[in-house]
Amino acid sequence: MENEKTFQPIRYFEEAGFWLLSTENTSYLFGRASDGRLQHLYWGETLSDPDDFAALGLETQTAPSGDYDDIAVRLQFKGSLPVEEYPAWGDFLYNEPCLKATFADGVRDLHLVYASHSQETGPEGLPLLKVTLKDTLYPLEVDLFHRVVPGLDLLERWSVVRNTGSSPIDLETVLSAGWHLPTRNQGSYRLTHLTGRWFADSRVRRALLPDGKTTLESRRNITSAEANPFFALDWWDPENGGASEETGEVWFGALGWSGSWKITLERASEPERVYVAGGINDFDFRWQLAPGEEFVTPPFTAGFTPKGFGQASRNLHRYQLDYLLPRAHANKPRKVVYNSWEAAFFDFNEAKQFEMAERAARLGVELFVIDDGWFGHRFSDRVSLGDWYVSPEKFPNGLGPLIRRVNELGMDFGIWVEPESVNADSDLYRQHPDWIYQFPGRPHNEVRRARILNLAKPEVVAYLYDCLDRLLGENNISYIKWDFNRPITEPGWLDAPPERQREMYVRHVRAVYDLVDRLRAKYPAVVWEACSSGGARLDLGTMRHFDQTWPSDNTDPFDRLFIQEGYSLAYAPKTMVAWVTDSNGSRDINNQALNLPFRFHSAMTGALGLGDDLTRYTPEREQAVIEFVREYKEIRPIVQEGALYRLLSPRSGPIAALQYVLPDRSEAVVFVFRHTEHYWQAATRIRLQGLDPARRYRVTGLKAGQEIKVSGQSLMSLGILPELSGHFASTLVKLKAV
Ligand code: GLA
Repeated sequence: MENEKTFQPIRYFEEAGFWLLSTENTSYLFGRASDGRLQHLYWGETLSDPDDFAALGLETQTAPSGDYDDIAVRLQFKGSLPVEEYPAWGDFLYNEPCLKATFADGVRDLHLVYASHSQETGPEGLPLLKVTLKDTLYPLEVDLFHRVVPGLDLLERWSVVRNTGSSPIDLETVLSAGWHLPTRNQGSYRLTHLTGRWFADSRVRRALLPDGKTTLESRRNITSAEANPFFALDWWDPENGGASEETGEVWFGALGWSGSWKITLERASEPERVYVAGGINDFDFRWQLAPGEEFVTPPFTAGFTPKGFGQASRNLHRYQLDYLLPRAHANKPRKVVYNSWEAAFFDFNEAKQFEMAERAARLGVELFVIDDGWFGHRFSDRVSLGDWYVSPEKFPNGLGPLIRRVNELGMDFGIWVEPESVNADSDLYRQHPDWIYQFPGRPHNEVRRARILNLAKPEVVAYLYDCLDRLLGENNISYIKWDFNRPITEPGWLDAPPERQREMYVRHVRAVYDLVDRLRAKYPAVVWEACSSGGARLDLGTMRHFDQTWPSDNTDPFDRLFIQEGYSLAYAPKTMVAWVTDSNGSRDINNQALNLPFRFHSAMTGALGLGDDLTRYTPEREQAVIEFVREYKEIRPIVQEGALYRLLSPRSGPIAALQYVLPDRSEAVVFVFRHTEHYWQAATRIRLQGLDPARRYRVTGLKAGQEIKVSGQSLMSLGILPELSGHFASTLVKLKAV
């Protein structure tokens, strides 16, 4: 970074009409065109002298000083991709607009031009630029926000659309931001993204972008397991391939929205250009902006790095730990959790939970959680969602005695809720059949016998707040797992005015955020976990309101290596809850009973939890588990606060390896997994990353009972040779600077 004193993350060059946003290793430039439009100019490696930009000549005919009056030039240019920083639908725009609106008189055309700008320092001390645009004729304004995260090479962008007139304006598309990648002559941009389904969440996919539009999206009003609002684009050429984990240029971004979203990547070739627009999904979207009202989009965070996918992930992880996660718990360790869901499902009572608690405490568990089944008459998933009172059958004395015992045993107590859903067989639904989304008279789909409460209605939100407030107020609860197990269908809100009925998608998500935030403010000690049939609510919006997330209902330790790899592409390991279970982890799902070390090592790469049926433990098993939990607590700061290096991907061979390094590089751990031993193959070294080359490290875990001392330099150049034997072998290598 330049000298601290002279380093200015945001600079405005009055004469040229440029704004230069600078981070430690990147520059981002946009400016005012002669007709007042805001044009994107550059995003990539550091541009120390922005004047050089103009001096080197402009690629397009539409630079700030360019000839905007030449309609042929504009048409030709608009034929491929837009150049505006925030393209609004009007005149020659045939691409994905960030903004599309209809005025009260039926006019559907926008020409946004510069009006003013200002600069301030945001609450986290991050510099913030606001540029206000306005339509040339109609009373609509847009504030474009660019917040710079200098040390992490990231930009956070969002926009605010304002109606300054006296008639309503219909918003049909309001995305958060549009990102423009540099033009290249040969080669292609390659897209990396996450895809999946229930039980196979967050899996990495990589493919060259085709010409035209590629859309990643959810229309389910949850983030979804099928697609995740994250993208990475690297530069790929046939000679040299693309970026790797540690080298190559990567542009990447993630959206902060937990409802229906979309990210559209548009490619034009010869020359190669890519434009990425993203935000709230405009499918079935409509928002009526009343006079004087504003619409605020969720943030879209993006960055550039010349150091590969690994650095992109590390920057996003650090961003979550340092800025995004709720501050109350961001710096505290995530506790070792016990959750009996997979061990007992709905079949438990007070006595059984007492027994589990005693056993969990002996193992070193720090947080004891009751999952689904503690409320109403919840003996199956067909009943009682919505009735948030303690089950009189399972807990005739309330939760008090169990919570007291859990606390006496030195553990925190946590509980599961699914506030947004309701079973038709519930007191709540019988009292308020009109509280759900529906098109009355038409068939209504159920998922797990549940329907969705209409959180666009203030009375529904008030009811949920009261239920949760009572639950937290009456019981010493330290953790809530907030689940939501179904995507939206039949999204009807027919008692709202027709022009407002489609606002429910956005109002629903905002209501969830708001409920959690209000409860957090009243009960700051509570830790919140987001879950949606596994990882269907994994996004930067969730990270802003919840402390951790449940990545997948699949706890098979081998499958998890793939799911967790995808998770780690964008999301911090500290937030990634991973249980060791004996249910689908080794019996039911893939019909494989995996060994205990493999199961623990897989789960220890995130926030460790246990989900076994503890009553089936033998004394030997118990002793082994105690030892793993103790070991996890010892390395927890490295896993939860350290920098992650994905040394070997489970996708590329029989061996996977993950390394975590403390920020001061004094300690590191390496998890090595081998799923199959093939062809009597010789062991090969694994080169480490991120260590201090000048220091010596004490290394254990390569061979049973062995301890060696070697330099960081050798560990990174020669690499380690961990001893692994047979199929599904794993080891945990620990390094400590001496
Ligand atoms: C979802 C969650 C699980 C569990 C069940 C309870 O499937 O993902 O972890 O909480 O609901 O019904």
